[in-house]
Amino acid sequence: MKGLATAVVFMALIAVPAAAADPDGEELFELCVQCHGSAGQGSFLALAPAIAGLEEWYVVAQLEKFRSGVRGLHPDDLAGLRMYPMSKVLRDDAQLEAVAAYVASLPSQDPAPTLEGGDAARGQALYAPCAACHGADAQGLEPLAAPSLTDTDDWYQLEQLRHFRDGIRGANPADATGMRMRPMALILANDQAMKDVIAYVMTLQN
Ligand code: HEC
Ligand code: HEC
Repeated sequence: MKGLATAVVFMALIAVPAAAADPDGEELFELCVQCHGSAGQGSFLALAPAIAGLEEWYVVAQLEKFRSGVRGLHPDDLAGLRMYPMSKVLRDDAQLEAVAAYVASLPSQDPAPTLEGGDAARGQALYAPCAACHGADAQGLEPLAAPSLTDTDDWYQLEQLRHFRDGIRGANPADATGMRMRPMALILANDQAMKDVIAYVMTLQN
């Protein structure tokens, strides 16, 4: 009987916090600031991109991808492997959606260019096919699942284009939208072409 009583008391103790109000998006974002910064401005040292102002639907989609392991589990994806466990700290869909809404509500940080050697004029021509999905101003087009490219860092975009090219992102058959992007990274002939197109995208930031 004593064991049962102890068990009942113990269950009552863990039941209390579970019954407490769900943390809101701002509170949940505390889990993210260590890497993404308090304004969602990102941190190069943490390999974590600026995320402030990304579209809510895109943030939800990416958090779901990390949570299910469709993104971030490739053994060569050092940055993705850091993000993957963070998606798991969100307890359920409600928390995932709440933090995504908060991220989307943060003002875009319009990250400053950091890469050198990109030629924006050449990049403008290379960007033409990208506009079909990401929009003429790289503002993103939800019906095509293509995110805005103006809210995030140039170094991160270069890393992502390399990852798509190398099959580190967007090669998993369960990643339908990533698989749409992958061939586009493959049409960029080399790192120089990637830097050029990104240099052009950076001129579109407002
Ligand atoms: C331990 C560091 C760390 C923490 C904490 C962290 N992240 Fe990340 N996050 C990363 C890294 C690194 C990447 C880049 C992954 C890549 O390069 O593919 C990333 C990528 C992302 C992306 C994808 C951005 C894009 O443009 O595709 C989103 C969205 C994101 N994180 C949201 C969050 C949210 C929301 C939280 C808090 C619940 C969080 N992160 C906590 C490190 C972290
Ligand atoms: C056929 C439509 C399509 C075209 C064309 C396209 N993209 Fe994408 N792109 C996408 C989709 C969809 C995603 C999101 C993939 C996902 O859900 O993980 C994406 C993601 C990206 C990302 C990662 C953004 C982030 O925040 O992680 C970059 C960078 C990118 N595209 C750059 C480009 C560039 C540069 C071009 C032109 C060379 C291009 N895209 C052409 C559909 C496209």
